[in-house]
Amino acid sequence: MQDKPLRSRNWFGKTGKDGFIYRAWMKNQGIPPDAFDGRPVIGICNTWSELTPCNAHFRELAESVKHGIYEAGGFPVEFPVMSLGETLIKPTAMLYRNLVSMDVEESIRANPLDGVVLLCGCDKTTPSLVMGACSVNIPTIVVSGGAMLTGKFRGRDIGTSDIWRFSEAVRSGSMSQAELELAEAGMCRSKGHCAVMGTASTMAAMVESLGLSLPGNAAIPAADSRRKVLAQLSGRRIVEMVKEDLKLSEILTRKSFENAIMVNAAIGGSTNFIIHLLAIAGRIGVPLELQDFDRFSRDIPLIANLQPSGQYFMEDLYYAGGLPAVMKELEGRLHADCITANGKTLGANNANAECFDRDVIATLSHPFKASSGVAVLNGNLCEHGAVIKPSAASEHLLYHKGKAVVFENIDDYKARIDDPDLGVDENSVLVLKNVGPKGYPGMPEVGNMGLPAKLLAKGITDMVRISDGRMSGTGFGTVILHASPEAALGGNFAVVRTGDTIELDVASRSLQLLVSEEELKRRKAEWQPSITVSDRGYTSLYQHHVEQAHLGADLDFLKGGSGSAVNKDSH
Ligand code: FES
Repeated sequence: MQDKPLRSRNWFGKTGKDGFIYRAWMKNQGIPPDAFDGRPVIGICNTWSELTPCNAHFRELAESVKHGIYEAGGFPVEFPVMSLGETLIKPTAMLYRNLVSMDVEESIRANPLDGVVLLCGCDKTTPSLVMGACSVNIPTIVVSGGAMLTGKFRGRDIGTSDIWRFSEAVRSGSMSQAELELAEAGMCRSKGHCAVMGTASTMAAMVESLGLSLPGNAAIPAADSRRKVLAQLSGRRIVEMVKEDLKLSEILTRKSFENAIMVNAAIGGSTNFIIHLLAIAGRIGVPLELQDFDRFSRDIPLIANLQPSGQYFMEDLYYAGGLPAVMKELEGRLHADCITANGKTLGANNANAECFDRDVIATLSHPFKASSGVAVLNGNLCEHGAVIKPSAASEHLLYHKGKAVVFENIDDYKARIDDPDLGVDENSVLVLKNVGPKGYPGMPEVGNMGLPAKLLAKGITDMVRISDGRMSGTGFGTVILHASPEAALGGNFAVVRTGDTIELDVASRSLQLLVSEEELKRRKAEWQPSITVSDRGYTSLYQHHVEQAHLGADLDFLKGGSGSAVNKDSH
């Protein structure tokens, strides 16, 4: 136990005019005087919003956290931050991830908080909150909102990954509009985030494998009463973490990042994991690079049979034993000695985990798929790397040589993809430029671009696609993402042209543009930027300061942290 004075005493421990001001206005909420007697003040950072449907149950969850905080002798204070709902926010929620991280960082530092509980759910609400908290580095625990119950449509299970299938089916004429509406009604039938191993579930698994949550956080469905129990226990635990002064920097070590990469490979987590984990590492000051994702996931097979790489849903993962059962299976690979939020090691937390369904969680010796994780590609088409998720790709396309069909931006793609005269066949490589961090701006999830209608009509279901953008964690296909440097910066990716030959060799981790060095030099000398850079507001700040995907797409001036000290005191 620490005897370090609580930072909240710099507010509530004051006497005279200052203490009066700090306490008197809080008392208008009906708070009794003993709340200010020196007990830990715990912030509950809430991303509740009716515009973020995945997090719309968070007021309820916050109540459970509060119960736990009171039970452990703390004083809870709930505060809102900007909430990023993946489905409504335009142009893309990713544009605002770094903005929210600033909101979180400054909200924590500026207020009398000794510890904080982060309520995270929809995709970006997890990394943005964790990034912001890392830059302050006080005791912090994460409570995820949980996934929705599995969707139902005509007697079968559906989830977000089916949207891509439905969309292609409607375009090819094999599904009617009426059927699509039935599917829409059955997809999101309970509270919670996407029910597949998309980005939200990947993030929930990331925080559990990093040690930032209590065990079990990743998979308990939002509608299951045990999600509330976890929230209440997390409320109790954060009070103890404050007393122990167990800060984020003690949990987030290089080894815990390596654990998260290995677990992400085993569950077939989203490619967005890469960008977010790099950004989190950058905030807490742990060295991590793109190549680490390949290095630490290369020998880990896919053992979780979950959509979009497999068959089942998050609900099934929970009933099969949840992430503890996955991590138990990885025993011997993971760093068991990493300390976690409950004060115990990762190894101790998962030592007695059991698997109840081997169809959902396979074993290392008999995995669901031999290849998993993320392959980091290198080559002259992506001087700083690109990524592909082999478990979500088509086996026969993992080596492929084809002619590029280039779209200069998303509007160009939309205008021409279904043109019957487009010179494209199933061996072509679709290339989409200017959907990177700076170019779009905000790096939207358009990398798994739909196939040309005329090829869908022929029954083609996958092609090699390359972009400098991202893909939804629920997406799939032979899709190469995060090409860096992005087209907006004028590297080789900026000058690839229709008709050029591209060679993909995932086994060799290679992505080559088969055009002579001399020709590339000539094209680059002629290259002119085609994007618009905003001259006002947050978008301008973002475009001037965002880093490339291989560095985590954080704003350059937000890397690292400023600690929890408040430099100036106006009272
Ligand atoms: Fe919120 Fe998928 S839209 S998690």
